[in-house]
Amino acid sequence: MADEIELIYKGVNYKFPLVHGTENETAIDIKTLRAQTGLITLDPGFKNTGSCQSEITFLDGEEGILRYRGYSIEDLANQYSFIEVAHLLIYGDLPTTEQLDKFENDIRDYALVDEDFKIILKSFPKSAHPMGILSSLTSALIAFNPSSVDINSEKDFYEAIIMLLAKFPVLASWTHRKMKGLPLNYPSYELSYTENLAHMMFRMPNKDFKASKTVVSVLNKLLILHADHEQNCSTSTVRMVGSSHAGLFASIASGISALWGPLHGGANQAVIEMLEEIRIDGGDTQKFMAKAKDKNDPFRLMGFGHRVYKNFDPRAKIIKKAADEVLSELGIDDPVLDIAKRLEQEALQDPYFVDRKLYPNVDFYSGIIYRALGIPTEMFTVMFAIGRLPGWIAQWKEMRFNKEPIGRPRQVYTGATHRSP
Ligand code: SDX
Repeated sequence: MADEIELIYKGVNYKFPLVHGTENETAIDIKTLRAQTGLITLDPGFKNTGSCQSEITFLDGEEGILRYRGYSIEDLANQYSFIEVAHLLIYGDLPTTEQLDKFENDIRDYALVDEDFKIILKSFPKSAHPMGILSSLTSALIAFNPSSVDINSEKDFYEAIIMLLAKFPVLASWTHRKMKGLPLNYPSYELSYTENLAHMMFRMPNKDFKASKTVVSVLNKLLILHADHEQNCSTSTVRMVGSSHAGLFASIASGISALWGPLHGGANQAVIEMLEEIRIDGGDTQKFMAKAKDKNDPFRLMGFGHRVYKNFDPRAKIIKKAADEVLSELGIDDPVLDIAKRLEQEALQDPYFVDRKLYPNVDFYSGIIYRALGIPTEMFTVMFAIGRLPGWIAQWKEMRFNKEPIGRPRQVYTGATHRSP
């Protein structure tokens, strides 16, 4: 494989090394570009620009492949627990039985949050969007755990990771309960991570509650499918904020805000709102397809398209199958599922979508499952964040352990040249 590339500029030949990944991805190492040539690159949205070398997640957008630390998403989603996958992402390997027991018990030990979080929660109006509340509560974790993460102390860093994994679902479920005016539930030591999430989200004080196997199994699968996705917008934000040596909690809080956007994690909420709009409008999917293709119409087919996947998002395939299974097991006939399937079929045969390689992504079907579980639409992106947390932690840890420099992109200035007042 060639190990360098040549650039000719103003008659001078410059050479730059090539970097090869383990999956044969190749990059031009342009660390010395400006020093050698005075040139910089320009790449809005970083569509052609790698920000780092990473060992955590591999995507092949053309083949529709997703692997965490080399394991296929299909194997992980169908055979493992979310906490096992979190351990894999953060520490590089699936846990042994002993490691898993310790990891799970440490998380149980840290799962209570300071009661004063209820005072913070109380200050938010019921109308507040839960992503804004969750980002604020995650930032507040710093105040209650002031010792910022000393990544050189293995014990300190392990505790910070466990604290986040343990408290995040509590803060997320409390956010949901607050919005609905419902009493807050505490995690139970007897339950698994995902059982506890269901317990805290859905248990009512006036009757016994036990989450069904169907609910726990599909929640576990959804959390795994959302756990990491290489250098997406929110993960890049977590890395960028962490590169200034801001703390882990502050970096994660920034990732929550980035995920909130409707072009990113907020798309799962936008998909259901779109499907509902189509249903209320009479179900004419062709009308909305035409809107999505009309350059003068800002309407986009939410849940379709992806920066990397130019084939099926492998997660969408798994979620679509799970949606069918869950709705039939729960005996739910949701008209928006039929609309979603019709939209998918029509888009996959429409030249506009085919030419642009726009396929359903992770967000297209996930909201249908969350809705079937009784999770309100505004909470869908919070569910995405709970899943993505171990990925954010793993990526932040890799960035800091690799001693990566503070992120500070260049620009091409196009404003006014010097002028006198
Ligand atoms: C996630 O990066 C990740 O890994 C993200 C994620 C993760 O796990 O972290 O996978 C999660 O964010 C999934 C994506 C969720 N977002 C949506 O579903 C929102 C709808 N999709 C789009 O807005 C769009 O497809 C993006 C934002 C996902 C990707 O946008 P790109 O790569 O910047 O592509 P683009 O906007 O330049 O679009 C290319 C063309 C354009 O048309 P032309 O100018 O070539 O004529 O495709 C069109 C776009 O107008 N297009 C769409 C479309 N998506 C792209 N047209 C209609 N409907 C759409 N959904």
